[in-house]
Amino acid sequence: MLEDTKVVSLTPLNDTTYSLILSAPEIAKAARAGQLAHVSVPGFLLRRPFGICDADAKEGTIRLCFEVRGDGTEALARVKVGDTLSVNGAVGYGFERIKGRRVLFVGGGIGIFPLLYAARFAGESTAALCFRDKSRVVLAQDFAKICKEIFLATDDGSLGFHGYAADLVRELIAEHEYDDVCVCGPKIMMQTVSEVALAAGLDCYVSLEERMGCGVGACLACVCQTMLGQKRVCIDGPVFDAKEVRWDA
Ligand SMILES: Cc1cc2nc3c(=O)[nH]c(=O)nc-3n(C[C@H](O)[C@H](O)[C@H](O)COP(=O)(O)OP(=O)(O)OC[C@H]3O[C@@H](n4cnc5c(N)ncnc54)[C@H](O)[C@@H]3O)c2cc1C
Ligand code: FES
Repeated sequence: MLEDTKVVSLTPLNDTTYSLILSAPEIAKAARAGQLAHVSVPGFLLRRPFGICDADAKEGTIRLCFEVRGDGTEALARVKVGDTLSVNGAVGYGFERIKGRRVLFVGGGIGIFPLLYAARFAGESTAALCFRDKSRVVLAQDFAKICKEIFLATDDGSLGFHGYAADLVRELIAEHEYDDVCVCGPKIMMQTVSEVALAAGLDCYVSLEERMGCGVGACLACVCQTMLGQKRVCIDGPVFDAKEVRWDA
């Protein structure tokens, strides 16, 4: 649905990343974990997609966290409290296919954002949050409030586990009991983590990222290849069963 939302707050999380709270009562009521908000940034024709990082139906707010990557996100980082932003949301299929109770959420970089809201709905959630280095770590305290356990990892070892997400997940799976693994982050991270999870016999869900145009399933800009044929990330996903994804395509 399209909703004219109001900016409630915009808070920097580090030098390039922001937390944006929008008053969006209808989207907040409808939002399911892992779904998208497609945001119209003033001055830009195409909407920008962001995973819904959190939603509060009682307060009527949604939270989006974003990193400045180009002109659109740079403009978004300059909005003011009270500004109106048109948002199409909540779009797509999220993590509703999760079957198990004990869920391991694995996020890399900006991929951690949609996992926060998803972690609220798992019976027992563990978060493995992976970053390039300690200066990039964000939202760790937010996850700590929701999850039973959180693990931090950095590629350079400057904080937490020293190594890549798949190596951490291999250790966690060997030492703990999980039913499902949910992953969002760079493609190579999602592929390697899902290989580890599937090899251990766990169900695994990945939130794919493709460039988007319309966000309503019409333009096919966001098509990805799966074992079941072509799928549109915007409305058939962004979350897919990892067994169905063709990583080589
Ligand atoms: C399913 C999904 C969920 C996402 N969730 C988040 C999130 O929670 N937080 C966050 O910081 N970023 C997220 N992104 C990435 C975010 O959409 C892009 O960083 C953003 O659109 C870049 O816009 P720009 O104008 O700054 O960059 P530009 O490069 O100037 O954008 C030019 C065009 O390309 C598109 N584009 C550029 N990079 C991407 C990209 N990586 N993915 C999709 N479209 C892109 C833009 O939307 C725009 O239409 C998500 C992307 C997808 C597909
Ligand atoms: S963005 Fe147009 S079909 Fe997905």
